[in-house]
Amino acid sequence: MRGVGFVFVLVSLLGAIATTSFASTVTYDHRALVIDGKRRVLISGSIHYPRSTPDMWPDLIQKSKDGGLDVIETYVFWNLHEPVRRQYDFKGRNDLVKFVKTVAEAGLYVHLRIGPYVCAEWNYGGFPLWLHFIPGIQFRTDNGPFKEEMQIFTAKIVDMMKKENLYASQGGPIILSQIENEYGNIDSAYGSAAKSYIQWAASMATSLDTGVPWVMCQQADAPDPMINTCNGFYCDQFTPNSVKKPKMWTENWTGWFLSFGGAAPYRPVEDIAFAVARFFQLGGTFQNYYMYHGGTNFGRTTGGPFIATSYDYDAPIDEYGLLRQPKWGHLKDLHKAIKLCEAALIATDPTITSLGTNLEASVYKTGTGSCAAFLANVRTNSDATVNFSGNSYHLPAWSVSILPDCKNVALNTAQINSMAVMPRFMQQSLKNDIDSSDGFQSGWSWVDEPVGISKNNAFTKLGLLEQINVTADKSDYLWYSLSTEIQGDEPFLEDGSQTVLHVESLGHALHAFINGKLAGSGTGNSGNAKVTEDIPVTLIHGKNTIDLLSLTVGLQNYGAFYDKQGAGITGPVKLKGLANGTTVDLSSQQWTYQVGLQGEELGLPSGSSSKWVSGSTLPKKQPLIWYKVEANFTILILIMNYLLHYKVIIR
Ligand code: GAL
Repeated sequence: MRGVGFVFVLVSLLGAIATTSFASTVTYDHRALVIDGKRRVLISGSIHYPRSTPDMWPDLIQKSKDGGLDVIETYVFWNLHEPVRRQYDFKGRNDLVKFVKTVAEAGLYVHLRIGPYVCAEWNYGGFPLWLHFIPGIQFRTDNGPFKEEMQIFTAKIVDMMKKENLYASQGGPIILSQIENEYGNIDSAYGSAAKSYIQWAASMATSLDTGVPWVMCQQADAPDPMINTCNGFYCDQFTPNSVKKPKMWTENWTGWFLSFGGAAPYRPVEDIAFAVARFFQLGGTFQNYYMYHGGTNFGRTTGGPFIATSYDYDAPIDEYGLLRQPKWGHLKDLHKAIKLCEAALIATDPTITSLGTNLEASVYKTGTGSCAAFLANVRTNSDATVNFSGNSYHLPAWSVSILPDCKNVALNTAQINSMAVMPRFMQQSLKNDIDSSDGFQSGWSWVDEPVGISKNNAFTKLGLLEQINVTADKSDYLWYSLSTEIQGDEPFLEDGSQTVLHVESLGHALHAFINGKLAGSGTGNSGNAKVTEDIPVTLIHGKNTIDLLSLTVGLQNYGAFYDKQGAGITGPVKLKGLANGTTVDLSSQQWTYQVGLQGEELGLPSGSSSKWVSGSTLPKKQPLIWYKVEANFTILILIMNYLLHYKVIIR
């Protein structure tokens, strides 16, 4: 009995600890966010929960903490959570509550950027496609149907967070929220309605009573009490729209996103560190890395068009969750140096003096003896030696030295001291594959996809239809099929001239099949302008089938009225240059449409289908095939010490 009683007491005590919360107050003044009455210097980093897996979250967050972050920032992705109107999904990678709790468990704060427009290289900027079909709707402006939906979703997220006591005002980790996203970049296109929309968004957000401040990024006219914040590669020259608001940087781009066919983006850590140090030198107190871990655009979540599935971003933690060095390490050192200045930074405004052309000192000095200084060389190509408080300091070009005691240099942003561990992926079976004559074929399986109409959801219509209105983005694929009769007396090709299929499309990609055979392909997108393809074709006497497979490759996520950009083959579609000189316009004929591919119906994209076949030779000459492979990777680690310039390879 005693034993049972003891266990009971222990369990109830643990329960009490787990549920006890110590509510914080979060406010702001002209210097900083103020948490429980104390101004704070905060280093933040973006990790978007659906761009990694829940299994990865604790490790990513721990690595962020080890790197010196105080805050994790994430957007909330409306189209993930409400794919069908009023049907919500918060499971697996979409488990926002679990993500926020995981951050809290690591002892970090959260900045929840609800949006719900997010941009973020996310499909359709985060809006669910069903919004587009609401009668009378106009996105991101003073429009009743839009505002109603935006409010319902925003309130839903705020309520979820409140129910779980996740706001700092309730003892949780969320110290900040964002409404809208960079609307100020494009608001002029929406005329005077933009102003009333942003006023409405501010008061709607405030009325949700989260108990913590709201921000609007890139919104110079953000109404009080919204804090307007800066996004960019450099934000040191930014000033908020009121002397009562702190200088905050919500997106410091650590690299950039990858586009299909584009170069892998790269931003040197020396430049990031310089930008961050300049920001704190000139009065900033909150800075967020976009991205700290970029991750992966799983499934069909990528925006676009043509944004790649990798969202690595050249971030300090790479796509796979491994530290990217020396980026992560140098920024960690930078954060340490900045934190050594915190007492002086929060106590006062900087006194800025010139030390020469493009050479600048900032001093934060308190009455109680703290003093921190930042010495900057803003020249791009010449080092400098400066005199500061009776001492001489060498400043490499484009660098800042941080002196937490106004005397000794804790760090210069251009000098990397941290040891770098550089991981590389290697396929485990690489050796076997190289040894075998057929290269990487082992392990592949496949399924044939029929050309043209094969599903019973097909329908016919006179004329050419815009794609997104037809697919409602349920699939990237839309077949446009037609059968046309070439009369026996039509002397095409007989004089040697080439018949051409002329197709005009809004994008994004196209494959043209004539009589079941691939005739040509094209890609392109230029807003609402047409992409034109002239595809040489060979026709036969009698019946010819023309099957055009049109693809979307991530829906537009940025720009004024981006939601109105269409896709697909809106025509004209013509056969040109038939030998007798005629052009046949096929645009207004009766086309047959099929949304999606057979393989999607079979569940092939998720990999789980019994239809996959494998064998020793890959199929050839079949125009459309689904391929799948599973591979194991090992990590090859390179250790590089930048001071000693040597490399060691460990396996
Ligand atoms: C910003 C935007 C982010 C992201 C970024 C580029 O303008 O706010 O959501 O799109 O650009 O990666």
